[in-house]
Amino acid sequence: MSEPLDPAPTLASLSPGLRALVWGASGGIGGAFVAALGANPRVGKVMAASRSAAAPWTFDLENEASIAAVAKAAAADGPLDLVLVATGVLLPNPEKSWRHLDPQVMSRAYAVNAIGPALIAKHTLGLLRRDAKTVFACISARVGSIEDNRLGGWHAYRASKAALDMLVRNLAIELRQRNPHAVCVALHPGTVDTALSRPFQSAVDPARLQSPTDSARRMLATLDALGPGDTGKLWAYDGALIPF
Ligand SMILES: NC(=O)c1ccc[n+]([C@@H]2O[C@H](COP(=O)([O-])OP(=O)(O)OC[C@H]3O[C@@H](n4cnc5c(N)ncnc54)[C@H](OP(=O)(O)O)[C@@H]3O)[C@@H](O)[C@H]2O)c1
Repeated sequence: MSEPLDPAPTLASLSPGLRALVWGASGGIGGAFVAALGANPRVGKVMAASRSAAAPWTFDLENEASIAAVAKAAAADGPLDLVLVATGVLLPNPEKSWRHLDPQVMSRAYAVNAIGPALIAKHTLGLLRRDAKTVFACISARVGSIEDNRLGGWHAYRASKAALDMLVRNLAIELRQRNPHAVCVALHPGTVDTALSRPFQSAVDPARLQSPTDSARRMLATLDALGPGDTGKLWAYDGALIPF
């Protein structure tokens, strides 16, 4: 395994001893978030939730009660500073044409990529501390940008990520009233070497393929640099703003 490209992010903008909750810790990017946070001296506690985690950290995005139970366990010993939603699905053979549209595939994409993160927000935004900067971030994707879409295709995945982006904007507006220092954003991780991207990597320039470690570190550095004026938007791993 090669050394990460960038130094570890300091997370100096968040409170010392910060408490972080990562959803999707079994995934390539989620696991890298957990590792980066665990190695950061500013972090007091990292909670790693996934379908395969042991109780009380096990949840399924399609089971709201399991999401509520994880959120309750996470806030048992104090408010949260950082919530990262690193779950997501790209179903096999993404559509190349309207002829391939399948309501079952679309329902699953919306359930996992948009409704699940919305339910996580429902059960965690009220657990964020109110007296300092906090971050709620969902991993979205550049292909969910309507403005940036020039290639078409991948209808269900693109549309579900666009729905997620709209939810993030809405949640950010509501969260601002609770805490003016809060940051609620969508993130594009870049093209990252994970199980999700593996079937499509032959079409990717190897120079553009990032390790999960590099992507996670860069996204954490980006979140560290964002302020209240940056909330409700889609940010790339390298700190660039992507239009919705
Ligand atoms: N990799 C890329 O190049 C790339 C590019 C753009 C955006 N993204 C986005 O990045 C995010 C993370 O993906 P990744 O690349 O790290 O892929 P990954 O390794 O396949 O991770 C996906 C994660 O989502 C979880 N998940 C899926 N369905 C779930 C459900 N119903 N309930 C609970 N957890 C569920 C998986 O859990 P299990 O382990 O239990 O299956 C896993 O933890 C996704 O939102 C993806 O769309 C990735």
